[in-house]
Amino acid sequence: MSAYGEDLGRRKFLSGIIGVVAGAVATIVGLPAIGYLISPGVKRQNQEKWLTLGPVASLAPGVPSGFPYSRKIKDGWVEATQTGVAYALTADGQNVNVFSNVCTHLSCRVSWDDTRKGFACPCHDAFFSVDGKVLAGPPPRPLDQFQTKIENGQIQILLEA
Ligand code: FES
Repeated sequence: MSAYGEDLGRRKFLSGIIGVVAGAVATIVGLPAIGYLISPGVKRQNQEKWLTLGPVASLAPGVPSGFPYSRKIKDGWVEATQTGVAYALTADGQNVNVFSNVCTHLSCRVSWDDTRKGFACPCHDAFFSVDGKVLAGPPPRPLDQFQTKIENGQIQILLEA
């Protein structure tokens, strides 16, 4: 082999080594960088959270009380404020059921109708009993209930991601 041929072989060999090393460096540096960039988009950032509504002593037995609430939620890179009204109901002043005001038909907001003693949905004339059962209209199931606890006399609900 000529000196020129040996030089060409050495160059190819060194180019190959440099390519392998550059690839390894790119992988070592690049993977964590890619993970850092995409992790907010795939991470669930809204963990379950207990939210305090108010004192259980403020409830009148048999009459739902509406507690407005809001919380910041983060979904990937998008931040938003979730708002709602939770209706708390007690019969004995100790055990409390808390209903969502989101209609189970198409998610319009129900409100307490004190005259008719139930929850009315304005969108398609649905009507729910005081304990959330469907009495009229198209909703397929009762009003959703929050998981609830009472701590230091305060009603708390569990909000999930
Ligand atoms: S959304 Fe409530 S009845 Fe349709």
